Amino acid sequence: MTDRLVIRRPDDWHVHLRDGAMLEAVAPHTARQFARAIVMPNLVPPVTTVAAANAYAGRIRKAAGPGFEPLMTCYLTDGISPDEIERGYAEAAWVAAKLYPAHATTNSAHGVTAVAKIAPALERMQKIGMKLLVHGEVTDKAVDIFDREAVFIERVLAPLLRDFPGLKTVFEHITTKDAADFVTAGPATLAATITPHHLAIDRNAIFEGGIRPHLYCLPIAKRAIHRTALRKAAVSGSRKFFLGTDTAPHAVQTKEAACGCAGIFNAPVALESYLRVFDEEGALDRFEAFASENGPDFYGLPRNEGRIALARAKATAPERVKATPGDVVCYLGGQDLGWRYEGAVA
Ligand code: DOR
Ligand code: ZN
Repeated sequence: MTDRLVIRRPDDWHVHLRDGAMLEAVAPHTARQFARAIVMPNLVPPVTTVAAANAYAGRIRKAAGPGFEPLMTCYLTDGISPDEIERGYAEAAWVAAKLYPAHATTNSAHGVTAVAKIAPALERMQKIGMKLLVHGEVTDKAVDIFDREAVFIERVLAPLLRDFPGLKTVFEHITTKDAADFVTAGPATLAATITPHHLAIDRNAIFEGGIRPHLYCLPIAKRAIHRTALRKAAVSGSRKFFLGTDTAPHAVQTKEAACGCAGIFNAPVALESYLRVFDEEGALDRFEAFASENGPDFYGLPRNEGRIALARAKATAPERVKATPGDVVCYLGGQDLGWRYEGAVA
């Protein structure tokens, strides 16, 4: 049995770091485990300009401390300027742009109402090699919340890939067998991130013994067959799947509310929570590629040089992280993770 794993230092290809006091509270947790992270732009107001991205990157660096590199993203809005997108890419202010369907999730009110509205931006991104990151859910209220990802593939993603065949696209935080199959069968320009929670829970967990607001996120967890398919994809060895936690902190009072926010905060236990799954699947040997190689390879960025270690050990996940305007409840809080993150090794 493998009791200690030493791997290339990983990156997190999907995080929400927020801003202000919340950023200061959560950023060190991501920086503790990851060299780089793709930072989502769904702030209020959203990050739509080069100036805003540069200023935000500066605040993240300060909050995270030395040795952490935020990889910024641009929030796509209807009619966003292709010139601004290209300038930010050329100046390395951002590496990708995020498509939020308008009203799909937290702070997505300024998102895209129809792909046609961002066609000039997508054309430009395709030309310059800039990546597109997609929140893959339709917002049509007539579509059942558990079907929104599968319907998105058919209505939006498949046509988009057909119209922009050279555009490198990441289908973010996939939650269904439909998505895993679609990515597996798709072109080399298509990849996907998978969160630790979607690998671990199915929709029953959200209602176990009562409503569990801290397991509510978007896209929402689906039936068990989907979780099984995601696990299979993650450990398959396919280079198209990689680590993206979607860590999404919200103050406890905004989660435990009559209308609670969507998001699971997993940054303090990110690697351990993934490793548990790979261990259960008998696939510890596949973890390094998922966590540390497939992401940079897809983005065309160098792999990290350093190495980190994880050891099989009793390790209790923290219950909460102190934050303002309220503490943030941690994913798996109070549970034994079975693995301990040991940090950098020579
Ligand atoms: O659960 C989620 N939380 N899903 C998202 O897409 C956004 C995120 C957030 O920003 O809180
Ligand atoms: Zn997200």
